[in-house]
Amino acid sequence: MEHTIVQYTLEAGALEIEYIEEHFREFREKKTAVEIAERLRDREHLILLSMAPVLGEDGEVIPVAYKIGHELRSTETDIQLIDLVGQIRDVVAFDNRKVFYSWIGGTREEWRGQGHYRALTEQQEEWAHANGYDELVVKTKNKYYAMRGTLDHLRFDVVKFQRHLTDNRESKVYLSKRIGSDVLREHRTTRSVVEAA
Ligand SMILES: CC(C)(COP(=O)(O)OP(=O)(O)OC[C@H]1O[C@@H](n2cnc3c(N)ncnc32)[C@H](O)[C@@H]1OP(=O)(O)O)[C@@H](O)C(=O)NCCC(=O)NCCS
Repeated sequence: MEHTIVQYTLEAGALEIEYIEEHFREFREKKTAVEIAERLRDREHLILLSMAPVLGEDGEVIPVAYKIGHELRSTETDIQLIDLVGQIRDVVAFDNRKVFYSWIGGTREEWRGQGHYRALTEQQEEWAHANGYDELVVKTKNKYYAMRGTLDHLRFDVVKFQRHLTDNRESKVYLSKRIGSDVLREHRTTRSVVEAA
């Protein structure tokens, strides 16, 4: 199967993500387009959506999975990113290296298990490598079992576990993957990538 991936610009991409997140029952707090745009505006970023046909709708193709990531610097000023860097500083090297934070993503329920998230992840890795990044970092929670299983399949290594004081399901798990040409050689999906009109 060939995956069709669309790379979006900031404003249009932020709106698409706000729209697609409405379909995710797992997310209690959904990101707004404004929040997404604010986070990404002054930093290198990548907004990708994977497309698929709608059953019964002749030829109609819609976004069914998404993945957004951005540059992560050791000198962040955003409160959430200061916290993130503080958590991983002892396990991820920032000096003279480019670190990419794989921020949010998911696949709509009806289209899961078809390789959309692998395709998006591999495309993100290819882009990050081409843009000089050394390592990808991702954060999830104990309770996100599907995501943890998927990150395992995608060969992300756990680098830190941050225990929640009262509810271990809320504990945070930090993972990373160093990206070199060896990683790109292991990619398995066939992708065509287009820029959003
Ligand atoms: C996790 C999620 C993104 C997977 O998306 P997907 O498009 O179904 O994943 P893919 O089909 O590309 O699968 C990629 C790999 O992960 C594995 N995988 C997918 N879902 C899995 C699961 N529930 N448990 C274990 N492994 C899983 C697949 O077997 C595949 O491995 P392979 O390529 O080696 O065969 C999707 O289930 C999702 O959006 N879940 C809700 C989002 C969420 O929980 N977010 C948490 C916030 S961090």
